[in-house]
Amino acid sequence: MSVTRRVMLGGMGATVVAQAAPRPLLAAPAMLREIVARPGQAELLEPVQPKSPVWGYGGGVPGPEIRTRQGKDFAVQLLNKLPQPTTIHWHGIRNDNAMDGVAGLTQDAVAPGETFAYRFAPPDAGTFWYHPHNRTWEQLARGLYGAFIVEERNPPAVDHDRVLIFDDWRVGDDGKIDDASFGNFHDLSHAGRLGNILTVNGQFSHDVLVKAGERVRLRLVNAANARVMTISFPRHTPRVIALDGQPVSPFPMPTAGMRLAPAQRADVILDATEDVGRKTPIQVATGRANLVAGHLIYHPTQRKRRAALSENVVLPSNPMPTALRDVPDVVVKLDMTGGARSWFESAVYRGKTYDVRTLAREHQKVWAFNGIAGPPEVPLAQFAVGQTVHVQMINRTAWPHAMHFHGYHVREVAHSHRAPLPHWRDTIFMARDEQITVGFRAHNPGKWMLHCHMLEHQAGGMATWFEVT
Ligand code: C2O
Ligand code: CU
Repeated sequence: MSVTRRVMLGGMGATVVAQAAPRPLLAAPAMLREIVARPGQAELLEPVQPKSPVWGYGGGVPGPEIRTRQGKDFAVQLLNKLPQPTTIHWHGIRNDNAMDGVAGLTQDAVAPGETFAYRFAPPDAGTFWYHPHNRTWEQLARGLYGAFIVEERNPPAVDHDRVLIFDDWRVGDDGKIDDASFGNFHDLSHAGRLGNILTVNGQFSHDVLVKAGERVRLRLVNAANARVMTISFPRHTPRVIALDGQPVSPFPMPTAGMRLAPAQRADVILDATEDVGRKTPIQVATGRANLVAGHLIYHPTQRKRRAALSENVVLPSNPMPTALRDVPDVVVKLDMTGGARSWFESAVYRGKTYDVRTLAREHQKVWAFNGIAGPPEVPLAQFAVGQTVHVQMINRTAWPHAMHFHGYHVREVAHSHRAPLPHWRDTIFMARDEQITVGFRAHNPGKWMLHCHMLEHQAGGMATWFEVT
């Protein structure tokens, strides 16, 4: 799917837009606040163009930026004012299972007009996000998502701490989301729903205001249904300090940029090393397009003394379960099959075997894990708390995927094409032909989803779950 010229031109000729004030929702302990999921409007296109009807938390896109503290009790009530049942999933939080927000697995979907109280104490500090887990492919694409920031007990000193949420949309010139194409077979069986415009924090062009010499922590989030984006800040050399909410030993962002698959996040430290009055692009490479999503706008006259920048930022580690053992207690194989150009012949769905045509036509399932189009009624595997688990993921499809584990962060222990990376992640990007074995220590009991975060793939069968008892 190509990106329209409007994006290219619009992005390049972007005008300076005043920075939208963040809308923090600081959760006081034991205090129940409300998030209303409801229809609203967003200015996704350029200001002169029509507004877009969306679904949003609080009616806006993105939803309120929620900030809370590591280990502190967080509570919020979801009120559903949508025409569909919904839930909230707190993506990346090693959560209590009952608070994970998965309709049909950890809770019933919340009917229109109803409420659900979420309450938990996030164990890890970092950059997370929240979104529905019911008809996610539609609800997320209509605008239901927001940043969930868990602050460190002693956050590193920076001049600004900003969230940048990247998303793509399929909208017409009338501003309307193309809803006729939701769940269509082509998206389902190919690369997922790819949009024709790109936004950052719900804006067609989003600018970050800085002063020369300042240090900025940017929290990058890919909230697109299916689009992989490579984000860069030309003329700057940001350092990556966390991935998917987990601190990493800092490394310079590759010059080509930071690749984020859907649902992945990166925290970077960007030092404003350009001079006063400068303007540099925030760039997103995706497919064959290279888009300007906004700018770093330097204050025309003011600067900050550079001495403050000498120290490197290293985040304190999160309380992850103890080191993985080389010899796992359990090895689970996950054969990923199906999709266009690599159709399986047949697969099991709800206990019955179907040929691919029937399965596609009658149930819109075209992908499978271990020959089962999901989500299945029984878990992929069961583990006991304390066991070391290896999951051997084999991508036999013609497509890339973004494999997301609920309740856990996992680490590569083997990779078919390169040395395994040491980072803890909740979403693993897999190119075609890749095999990646990941490991984790079962510490968090419950029923946990494992699915592709390219949401049409998830809907089309790339979903399973495992149980920890
Ligand atoms: Cu971000 Cu199963 O979800
Ligand atoms: Cu996928």
